[in-house]
This record gives sequence, structure tokens and C-alpha cells, in this order.
Amino acid sequence: MSEPLLKVEGLKKYFPIKGGLLGKVSETVRAVDGVSFSVNEGETLGIVGESGCGKSTTGRMAMRLIEPTAGKVFFEGKDILNLSKSEMRRTRKDIQMIFQDPFASLNPRQTVGRIIEEPMIVHHMGNSSERRKRVDELLELVGLSAYYAKRYPHQFSGGQRQRIGIARALAVRPKLIIADEPVSALDVSVQSQVLNLLQDLQKRFNLTYIFIAHDLSVVRHISNRVAVMYLGKIVEISDSERLYDHPEHPYTKALLSAVPIPDPDNKTNRIILKGDVPSPAHPPAGCPFHDRCPVAMDICAKEVPVLKKTEDGRLVSCHLYD
Ligand SMILES: Nc1ncnc2c1ncn2[C@@H]1O[C@H](COP(=O)(O)OP(=O)(O)O)[C@@H](O)[C@H]1O
Ligand SMILES: [Mg+2]
Repeated sequence: MSEPLLKVEGLKKYFPIKGGLLGKVSETVRAVDGVSFSVNEGETLGIVGESGCGKSTTGRMAMRLIEPTAGKVFFEGKDILNLSKSEMRRTRKDIQMIFQDPFASLNPRQTVGRIIEEPMIVHHMGNSSERRKRVDELLELVGLSAYYAKRYPHQFSGGQRQRIGIARALAVRPKLIIADEPVSALDVSVQSQVLNLLQDLQKRFNLTYIFIAHDLSVVRHISNRVAVMYLGKIVEISDSERLYDHPEHPYTKALLSAVPIPDPDNKTNRIILKGDVPSPAHPPAGCPFHDRCPVAMDICAKEVPVLKKTEDGRLVSCHLYD
């Protein structure tokens, strides 16, 4: 097989928290604590997990919006953490991000046309009239009309604003799009329209996606593979179908059991997780999930499980499968 479009190895991000009168580092938040995965061209990798488990930080490090504390990021085989500023600028054109809150990420004082044109200006693409033409094309591509270019973000609904965010991301013809909870703020009916649009665009332009969500049901249909994160670590990564049909990690099972089932007579066992996600500043010893795990054993409080291949080829980090 050819090399993956993106590969990350042992990524870590520790945020120092300064406190006290002297502003000394009082504690360290281990937002991401040793994450490795790869994404092949044309594929969608879903990343799921509860809020605070390090998904956004992982996505940002994958495009070097923030510098990792440790680890490597390879894009098309190039180690992007070692690129010079100008090389990084060129690479950044190939990797675009779509954010959860389209309103917060769109400048309210700029017209939609100008917002979509901006990345083309930054990357010196075309002249002014060529860019205007491309803006019109992009608006049509995401299901809006070219005449919307003169309007302002507040004149649009949440779903339309997310379409504008998608048009802006597509403007520079990226290869990889990192979508960080792109539909989490939208009504359920609008969510599926935006998901369908993202899938259509993927086929049309052979795009590669990293799709971040806190809700497993959202990533199910769009992802080829899914990585489940808990407290800064990947606990399970597998083909989407297998993950949903036979989740292995107790955390994946719990997340899946929390997905609402449309049939009220279907009484599958709901696993209710005790307590909240522990603070990444004070992660528990051993398995990060052990104090909430319904099947924890003695070893789980002592030894950190490593991500290992199971018989059916997926990766799981759980002492149950040792
Ligand atoms: N700049 C920062 N400084 C300190 N802590 C941060 C910073 N960014 C994120 N964190 C912390 O890192 C953890 C992971 O955050 P994040 O990656 O945003 O998680 P998710 O996207 O899964 O909700 C959280 O505990 C968050 O509070
Ligand atoms: Mg996030």
C-alpha cells in the first residue's frame, strides 16, 4: 500500500498551568498523551470521545496550529514539524480546518465573498477577478447562491454559516480537511444535510477527512475508521463497521450504549458511566479509564495498558484483551 497522507506518531501536548504569586508552573495538563494514527488518501478517520479528552488539541497538532510537546507529524511523508516557515506556509494550503462554531470563525464585518476569498489571497491564488469567479463557484458548490457573496455572516442560519465555512476551507483546494465538531452546534435535521454535503465533496474532490465529534452516531456513516479517545489517549481504533457492531473497549461500549436508539422497545443494556472524566492535570494511575470502568480488574489501577492488535486486526488498549 502507498504511504498514508497523514501519519502522527507519539503525539503529546502538555500545557503548563502557571499559578501562585511567582507564576511558577503549578501543574501540567496532559491534554494529549501519546497518540499515533495514520489517514490514507480519500479516507475519513473519525475521532470521538467526551469533551476534554484531547480531540481538538490532536487535530490542531496534526496541522501544526499548535506545536506538540513530543511526537512526529508526517504529511505526504514529510516531517512537517521540521519545515521552515515558508515551507510550512505552502503545506498549510493542503490542510484546512472546519470549526464547530461557524459564527465565531467568520469575521462579522466581512462579506461572505471576502471571507471565502481570504485564503486565496493569503496563498497568492489568481487575480482579483479570478478569485471572485471562484467564490461564486464555491458558493454554488456548497449549495448556496453566488449572490450571497455580498451578504454578511449574521444574515445566515447556522447550517448556511457552516456551508460558508466549508466553502472557505475548499477555496485553496486542500487535500486534507480536519473538521472539528462541524455539526455539533446544528439542529439534527441540518446536521445530516451538512454531513451529506461533506460526503459529496469528498467523492468529488478525493478529499481526506479527519472528522472529530463527541457523539459516535455522527461519525458512524461518514468514517471508514474510528479512533476513540479517552483522557488524551486512543483506547480503540478500528474499521467503523466493526467498531459499531462489536466494540471491544469498555469505554467504546459505554459511549455506544449512550447513543439513543429510535426504537423504544429495543432495550439494549445502557451502560451509565460513573462520575466525570478525570482532570487531565491529574490522570489516574494505570489505565486512565479504570476508575469509571464497569469491568475494571486489580491490574487496571496499576499498569497502563498499551494499544495492541486484537485477533480481528483492530487496536485496543485494555487489560481484558491481554
Ligand atoms: N491552551 C490550553 N491551555 C491549557 N489547557 C488546555 C489548553 N487547550 C486545551 N486544554 C485542556 O486540554 C484538555 C483537552 O482539550 P481539547 O483538546 O480541547 O479536548 P476536546 O476537543 O476533546 O474537548 C482539556 O482538559 C482542556 O481544558
Ligand atoms: Mg474540542
